[in-house]
Amino acid sequence: MLVQLETIQEAALAKLAGIDESTELQAWYRTTLGRKGQVAALARQVGSLRPEERPAFGKRLNQVKQALTAAYEERLQNVKLSEIQAKFTADALDVTLPGRPQPTGGLHIVTQILRQIYRIFGDMGFQIFRSPDVETDEYNFELLNFPPHHPAREMQDSFYTTQKDVIFRTHTSPGQVRDMRKYYPEPIRVILPGMCYRNEQVTTRSEMQFTQVEGLAVGNHITFADLKGTLTEFAKRLFGADRKTRFRASYFPFTEPSAEMDVTCFKCDAKGCQLCKYTGWLEILGCGMVHPTVLRNGGYDPMRHFGYAFGMGPERIAMLKYGIDDIRQFWASDLRFLQQF
Ligand code: DAH
Repeated sequence: MLVQLETIQEAALAKLAGIDESTELQAWYRTTLGRKGQVAALARQVGSLRPEERPAFGKRLNQVKQALTAAYEERLQNVKLSEIQAKFTADALDVTLPGRPQPTGGLHIVTQILRQIYRIFGDMGFQIFRSPDVETDEYNFELLNFPPHHPAREMQDSFYTTQKDVIFRTHTSPGQVRDMRKYYPEPIRVILPGMCYRNEQVTTRSEMQFTQVEGLAVGNHITFADLKGTLTEFAKRLFGADRKTRFRASYFPFTEPSAEMDVTCFKCDAKGCQLCKYTGWLEILGCGMVHPTVLRNGGYDPMRHFGYAFGMGPERIAMLKYGIDDIRQFWASDLRFLQQF
């Protein structure tokens, strides 16, 4: 019987080594170590042994049981592990597959230009001030020294509301007077961005609504040299350090003297090209020294206070910078246009 026991052990271990699947393993346990298994069957025959042989057999039987149980447990661990691994491999995600792109939003091109402008003037100590989109005729024209019969006041240029003398602002300049009235007698350095509205024939070059950025500086010692220095620095930072500027005499009711600032063409480096119409120069903004009447309307004493102002159109800047040939694109909400920036 001892020999039988050894044979059972050997055969069982050999079989166990080949098992790699848990149902098979359970079957092995039943036939080997189970209540009706081979080992139990042999143990029941102990009575047929001579009494003096029994202890040695019993001892060996226990050893074999232990050895088989240990081997079974070890195998069980391995089988479980490889089954889990197999499941993982079968269910695996291919992480190398490219993901499905989520459409992301972006900043509108005019917002991007505005932020560049804010940053440059912010670095020079300017604050951002907002004034209303809906204005009165008084702020939009009168206080800015527009003569009573100035063509810009005609019905076809402004959008009127049903309320008398309440209009959509046609430019950001009314913010100048609002700002002065608010901050008098402090010195002022602000930029005033915002949407403007004009009742105009819409073409590739003019829209009913567009953005402007107004600038205003008021103080005791402000001169035309400050205006030129500030705007030249601005142009270099926005268009490139090599840019030069020139100031051409112009006319605006609210500034005296008035000027328009050009920068050397950044496309051809002033050699002459289609963008600058072979002049080498691009017109960027209007500017001037704040008219004494406007200073007075803002509460400041034009004998003691001086100021300069400027106004520019971010859409125009974007058109020049990116070669956009139709201003209507900006507010047409066409993603094919917007996504390019
Ligand atoms: N308000 C002017 C316009 O809409 C632009 C402008 C020109 C603003 C000269 C200014 C300035 O402050 O000094 O065309």
